[in-house]
Amino acid sequence: MRATSQDQAVERRSTDDREWTRQHLLDVDDLSGDEIDLLMETTDSMKEVLGRDVPRVPTLRGRTIVTLFYEASTRTRASFELAGKALGADVINVAAGGSSVEKGESLIDTVRTLQAVGADVLVMRHGSSGAPHLVARHIRSSVINAGDGWHAHPTQALLDLYTMRAHLGDVRGRRVVIVGDIAHSRVARSNIWLLSKAGAEVTVCGPATLLPAGLRPGDPPTEDPAALPRVNVETDLDAAVEGADVVMALRLQKERMSGGLLPSLREYARLYQLNESRLARAASGALVMHPGPINEGVEISPAVASSLQSVIDEQVTNGVAVRMAVLLLMCGVKRA
Ligand code: CP
Repeated sequence: MRATSQDQAVERRSTDDREWTRQHLLDVDDLSGDEIDLLMETTDSMKEVLGRDVPRVPTLRGRTIVTLFYEASTRTRASFELAGKALGADVINVAAGGSSVEKGESLIDTVRTLQAVGADVLVMRHGSSGAPHLVARHIRSSVINAGDGWHAHPTQALLDLYTMRAHLGDVRGRRVVIVGDIAHSRVARSNIWLLSKAGAEVTVCGPATLLPAGLRPGDPPTEDPAALPRVNVETDLDAAVEGADVVMALRLQKERMSGGLLPSLREYARLYQLNESRLARAASGALVMHPGPINEGVEISPAVASSLQSVIDEQVTNGVAVRMAVLLLMCGVKRA
């Protein structure tokens, strides 16, 4: 494959470690404004690559990316695989089911094995919060958190921010409402961090039983430095969406019913479903977002999910470019 001047621009970005010095991407809570801007600008370049007739560059040829998923995924795993391949890397997918995890191999032994077979980057999803942080302390490979428990989903928040910026430009001062199970959502946590850093005005909305401690009505302000940034909190969705620029609905996990946190799906949908009449209260042309997978008819009506205001498919598409940007920057890091 002959390198074009655009490929060389991608190559320059990949080796420019003046700006990107992180070995791992575990969360968004400690990203600087410059790092966020660099990720967004690099994603622009990756969108350009993906728009070509042959959407491939050889920049990561010879690198090996392993995806290791202990939980189900469609979007995240597929887009990391496509992203790695579009950059010319070898990509190996490992699911816990079907691997030696089933024979009792520990997490640390599993990741050391993947390092030993040559993984430069380990993209990892795990049901336990903090698992990628633990792994990052035990291996030399770069670790990307593809979702850990209720804690963080950094690349989802980055693709959400990228999608918002594509439509709204700078999100500073824009009103973003996140509705649903905020307490148990890694997507909500990562979006609260990233959107707050980007200057958006974030409102979270849901029943009090699905709001995290510290954000429930009547909770005293916390001094905990690890606490989420301050956001607006609403339990009435009609009030929350008034004038909003973006409304993001979150998947309602059905196990919240059995956990006694909600009376019924029907009641939840009556009070918290993003439907046409509620969307009409938002700003004209407000964006409708959802990280997926969707329970249509529960947290979002089919009409709203497929409306012209919905950018849900675009979020998924942008996920490939964002993950290319992350992989490219991570692989540009020079290690001792
Ligand atoms: N949004 C998201 O993480 O989707 P998947 O579970 O399909 O990866």
